[in-house]
Amino acid sequence: MEFERVAKLGAEVSGIDLAPDLPQDVIDEIEQGLLEHRVLFFRNQDLNGEELVDFSRRFGESFVQPALAHKYQELLFLENDKSKPPALNTFHQDMTGLAQPPALHMLHALVVPDGGGDTMWACNYSAYETLSDEMKRILGSLTCTHTILGYYEPIVRNWENSEEKIKEFEKIFPPVSHPVVRTHPRTGRKSLFVNRFFTNFINGFTPQESENLLQFLYKHIETPEFCVRLRWRPGTLAIWDNRCTSHYALADYWPQHRKMQRASVSGDTPF
Ligand code: SIN
Repeated sequence: MEFERVAKLGAEVSGIDLAPDLPQDVIDEIEQGLLEHRVLFFRNQDLNGEELVDFSRRFGESFVQPALAHKYQELLFLENDKSKPPALNTFHQDMTGLAQPPALHMLHALVVPDGGGDTMWACNYSAYETLSDEMKRILGSLTCTHTILGYYEPIVRNWENSEEKIKEFEKIFPPVSHPVVRTHPRTGRKSLFVNRFFTNFINGFTPQESENLLQFLYKHIETPEFCVRLRWRPGTLAIWDNRCTSHYALADYWPQHRKMQRASVSGDTPF
């Protein structure tokens, strides 16, 4: 297996056919590559949904998207076409409105549009490491409130009985508090841990202070030099570490059809 670095983060991996029953030393090598590069790209992988979930389980317990658990279990389909415009073209880390957001995602391309539909990832380590020592000191003592509804409210508003559902969401998924600077449990590296979908405000700041500082941090994370961009082909699989990267699904292919299947691995409490 070979890892070819693509940018500040990301590596193309060649010489491997992914399968749920790969020997443990191969799984360990993939995991090490992921910790080093944060996003891995594998081309021409022939995995059905069940195999993708089984493969993801080699890296930890499955993460079930709880807000959509009535629709999906371990396997999530991300499908957009003329009738369903894409809406993930905002940099974010997934599900930080939960006390334990997912650690890893595995996204496998089934239907790829004819041009467009790339995905970008940004390196949240680089975003932290390039700040001044004084800014790092200030951010090191801050926490933010994150909520699931930060992202899901406009979606739930289109569901039947939306008011009731929103109240249910508020009860099942109360706001959580996470540090602004997160330490990776495996690498010990620090990264910025705020995002436009789920982070609501910086605890203890006035709304204006919070909004201004968050906007600065979001833009800083999205610095092009901290990013890598993947052109999908059918069969491409991307694995990324949601603890230290942000991602953005370009919506430039709409109204064409794009279909991906995704399996995820559970994470721990950010510290
Ligand atoms: C996402 O997880 O936000 C979607 C990524 C993609 O579809 O490229």
